[in-house]
Amino acid sequence: MAAKDISVQMPVHVAIIMDGNGRWARSRGWPRLVGHRRGAERVKQIVKACPDLGVRYLTIYAFSTENWKRSTEEVLGLMTLFSRYIEREAEGLNAEGVRMRFIGDRGPLDGRLRRLMDGIEERTAGNERLNLTVAINYGGRNELARTARALAAAAARGDIRPDEINEEMLSRWLDTGDLPDPDLVIRTSGETRISNYLLWQSAYAEYEFTPTHWPDFTPEELASILARYSMRDRRFGSVKA
Ligand code: FPP
Repeated sequence: MAAKDISVQMPVHVAIIMDGNGRWARSRGWPRLVGHRRGAERVKQIVKACPDLGVRYLTIYAFSTENWKRSTEEVLGLMTLFSRYIEREAEGLNAEGVRMRFIGDRGPLDGRLRRLMDGIEERTAGNERLNLTVAINYGGRNELARTARALAAAAARGDIRPDEINEEMLSRWLDTGDLPDPDLVIRTSGETRISNYLLWQSAYAEYEFTPTHWPDFTPEELASILARYSMRDRRFGSVKA
């Protein structure tokens, strides 16, 4: 008799849209930035919890290409928060075996933040316990347009032939070229849209939407979402044998 397959399906790559910081703060009569600060504390806890939950890749949406439309105070506050997170967490992340990377268009970011991003990417490049990717000034459409431009330039130089551009090559040229596609995308705060996040990469991802605002999102809630995911039937366009 064939052995029963009792292996549990767990997501290798979880991507999160960390939404609801502003509402969380406002509902308490606090400035939006307080919500973002609490959100940064949550990032630390979730990052810590991921390896024990079997998640090897975690990708978080920290700032979209559309977020520049917010007030100067909020944009600067978020940028300061990103720099501070890198400065304060670098040592701990490295000690915990976290490899930290960034996706998005770095061009418009402040030079100091960019140097911190480059530095931590370099410093943690050898780590394998958790791959943490932070999307800053990221938009799926922007990423696809930048990649199309890079491919066109390479073809014009004669480095690649237009007829060799296929899905696999395009995937490799994206910001996420070294990452597997996300298995599960989670959005907090009750909104049920994907807001330009990992558009190409999420073609076959499963989605989970929770009403919890990001500053209240706990490792326990993540664990229960993962347990629900394990029951899902992923067919990738095929049918069951
Ligand atoms: C969306 O909530 C959240 C953001 C645009 C910022 C996410 C940033 C953090 C969680 C801060 C820390 C990140 C790192 C990597 C240290 P919102 O402000 O749009 O919430 P709202 O919809 O309730 O207004």
